[in-house]
Amino acid sequence: MPTPARIHVAHALHEVFGEGGRVPDIWDRDLGEDAQLAQALLGLCLRRWGRLQAWVKPKLKDPDRGVPLGTRVCLAMGLAQLAWLPGVSDHAAVNESVDLAANRDLGFLPHKGLVNALLRKASKDRSALAAELEALPSALDRSPAADRVLKAALAPHVCQEGGAEAELETLWARLQQPPRPDFRLLKGEVPEGLVPEAGLPGCLRLEDGAPFPRPWLESAQGMVQDRSSQALLAYRWERPVARILDACAAPGGKTTTLALRHPGAAITALEVHPKRAARLRQTLQQRGLEAQVIQADAAEWLEGNEGTFDLILLDAPCSGSGTLQKHPEWPWLKHEDLPRLTGLQRRLLAAAADRLAPGGLLIYAVCSWLPEEGAAHREWLREARPEFRPEAVWPASLGVASEAENEATSFFRPHPLQWEGEGFQAFATSRSL
Ligand SMILES: C[S@@+](CC[C@H](N)C(=O)[O-])C[C@H]1O[C@@H](n2cnc3c(N)ncnc32)[C@H](O)[C@@H]1O
Repeated sequence: MPTPARIHVAHALHEVFGEGGRVPDIWDRDLGEDAQLAQALLGLCLRRWGRLQAWVKPKLKDPDRGVPLGTRVCLAMGLAQLAWLPGVSDHAAVNESVDLAANRDLGFLPHKGLVNALLRKASKDRSALAAELEALPSALDRSPAADRVLKAALAPHVCQEGGAEAELETLWARLQQPPRPDFRLLKGEVPEGLVPEAGLPGCLRLEDGAPFPRPWLESAQGMVQDRSSQALLAYRWERPVARILDACAAPGGKTTTLALRHPGAAITALEVHPKRAARLRQTLQQRGLEAQVIQADAAEWLEGNEGTFDLILLDAPCSGSGTLQKHPEWPWLKHEDLPRLTGLQRRLLAAAADRLAPGGLLIYAVCSWLPEEGAAHREWLREARPEFRPEAVWPASLGVASEAENEATSFFRPHPLQWEGEGFQAFATSRSL
C-alpha cells in the first residue's frame, strides 16, 4: 500500500494532467511530517514532467503508442524520487511506485511489470539517471502557454541583441526554483527566524534553516504576502483617503494592507464568490480589522450603486500567468478563455473608473505578464477617459526604464530577471479635480 503522501501526489498529478485542473491549495493538509516529502515530489514531477516523459519514451516497446496517464504518473514519481530525492531509499522509490501502478484509480495494472522493470533498472545508478534527465532540454518542461508567458514577461524590458533566447532560459530556470515565501508583520514582535528583507520595508523573509512560522500565522500576528504585492501596496500617495474600495478582495491580503495603511478610512470589500467572501470576512475579523464585506459581482455592484471612493484597488481576476513559480502546474492547466477574461477586466475597470472621486487614486493590478491583461487596459483608459492621468506612485526601479517619469513610474512592471517576486502588471491613475 503506498503511503498517503504518494497517494496525494498521484491524485494531484491526475488532476493536473488528466483534467487540466489546479492543485488545490490545501492538498497536503493531512500529511503531517510527510508533507515536506510530498511537496518536494509533486514540485519535481510538475516542474520536470516533460523531461521525465521524454526519458521514458524511447525505452518503451512501441514508443508511438499512447501511454495511460496512470503509468506516466507512477513512472514520473518513481524516477523523480530516484534522481532527485537522495533521502528516499531505492526500495521505497521503486516499490511504492509499483504499488501505485497496481492501484485501480491512480495507476494502470497491466503496466505494473513495466513500471517495476524501468524503475529497478534506473535505481542501479541514480546519479547517472539524474545526469541523463538533466541533460535533456529544459524546454521539454514548458508548454506553448508557458513559452508565450516568458516572452511576454521579457518583451517590455530591453533584451541584448541575440540574447532573447538566453534570457528566456534564465527566466525559466528562475521560475523552476520553488519560491521563498515572504511575510508581513500585522501586530506584535517579529518572531524568531524571520528577518527584514533588504530594500523592501516591512517585508520579512525566513532565515536559512528556520522553521515555517505556522503558529505565528495562525495567531493572526502575521501573514504570507508575496513581495510583489507588498511593493505594489507601498504606493506613494499623499492626498487624504477617507473611502476605500477593494473591488476584488478575497482572500484579503491586500484589504489587510489597505486597512493598516489607512487606519480610520471606511473600506468596502467586494467579492463575487460566496465561500471566498465568507473567508474574507473571517480573516479580517481574526486580524481585528474593519471593512464592509459585500458578496457581489463588482461590475454589477459598481454600476448599480452611487457614491465615490478616494482610493480604489482593482486586483482583477486574471490568468495568473505571473504565478508560474508558485504554481508549477500552470503551464499544463486548461486555461480560461482569455478574451472572456479580458472582457471582464475591461468592464470592471470601466465601472471602477466611474466611481473614483475627483482627485482620487485608482490602482488596477493583475498577477499576469500577458499584455492583454495589463498594458492594453492602461492604453484603453488613457484613450477612452481623458479625465484620467497616470500617477507615478512607485519607484522607477519597479517599472520599465523607458516608462519612468523622473524617479517614479505609474506602471508597475518589475523586471522578471531582476525582481524575485511574482509577475505583476499594475497601473495607477487619478481623476482630475
Ligand atoms: C486576484 S484575486 C484577489 C486577491 C486579493 N486582492 C488579495 O490580495 O488577497 C481576484 C478575486 O476576485 C474575485 N472575483 C472574480 N470575479 C469577480 C467579480 N466579477 N466581482 C468581484 N470579485 C470577483 C475572485 O473570486 C478572486 O477572489
